[in-house]
Amino acid sequence: MDNNDIAKLVETSDEWIRERTGVERRHIAGKETTVSMAVEAGRRALANAGTAPEEVDLILVSTISSNVLLPCAACEVQKELGAVKATGFDLGGAACSGFVFAYNTAMAFLASGVYRTVLVIGSETLSNITNWKDRGTCILFGDGAGAAVLKASEGQMYRPVTHSDGAKGAALTCESRYTKNWKEIPEENTYMKMDGQAVFKFAVRRVPEVIGEVLEANSVAPGDISCYILHQANRRIVEAVAKRLGEPVEKFPMNLQEYGNTSSASIPILLDELNQSGALKKGQKIVLAGFGAGLSWGASVLEW
Ligand code: COA
Repeated sequence: MDNNDIAKLVETSDEWIRERTGVERRHIAGKETTVSMAVEAGRRALANAGTAPEEVDLILVSTISSNVLLPCAACEVQKELGAVKATGFDLGGAACSGFVFAYNTAMAFLASGVYRTVLVIGSETLSNITNWKDRGTCILFGDGAGAAVLKASEGQMYRPVTHSDGAKGAALTCESRYTKNWKEIPEENTYMKMDGQAVFKFAVRRVPEVIGEVLEANSVAPGDISCYILHQANRRIVEAVAKRLGEPVEKFPMNLQEYGNTSSASIPILLDELNQSGALKKGQKIVLAGFGAGLSWGASVLEW
């Protein structure tokens, strides 16, 4: 769905959306669901990593837009992939920090020796919780899924840095339809509602800060980082983060022009595209950074 398609739904234009966000298109699920896309992303990640489904100990699916409550998306992935040994559960609600938080959860299990092989998936059909009458939000979001396989190794473990600030949660909300008083909830509250400027200000301040914290916590200099893979929300946010860190914007790859903001799927989709293009080299240090509803934000350093 390109910006001109959006302009048929709400008062906006391709020019306005490109200028303010960098988004040109977004992919909207047709028959696919959060679960079916999670399965496909998981299948491709395992194939890409040369890992058999039977080797997987844990499947984590980060999503705020699953089509199922029970069984969880991760158990559906386990069944469909034949990952018979794996335990699966979903991480809901971490939203656009979701992939980074799921990655950190996986790393904690690997570091403690509880599991040796983890499949981490971010999958979203945000189109189902988007208010297509609200031009402040519907221009931003898209659907998609991505996945990564993490394995225990003897290499260095990097400490993540994460934060939550529930006091500022009102900046980005979506009320559940699954409550006793659902008939009294205004329909627009059951779609994502956002104070765009508040979220923008939060992101451009907190993301460079947390990247600075994670580099310091791990005694890594910015010059040692090959690329910064940020949650793909808005081109202006990514550019502002680069500027505040004093790092060249070329070290901040982007694909939001093609997919919009796919919440917990954005980082693994970008990681996969960079990997497929040969841009990631073994041993390179990479920063992942997520931010979003909660409010929540966090960053991790990893070695490819
Ligand atoms: N098309 C055209 N005009 C629009 C519009 C749209 N899609 N959305 C808002 N406007 C109008 C507003 O009504 C306002 O008009 P007014 O000055 O006559 O009142 C004007 O544009 C400016 O609105 P504002 O909300 O200040 O725009 P903005 O520059 O803050 O851009 C966002 C809006 C949503 C693009 C921007 O705030 C943003 O990207 N925020 C971060 C959101 C985000 O990334 N969230 C997810 C984080 S995980």
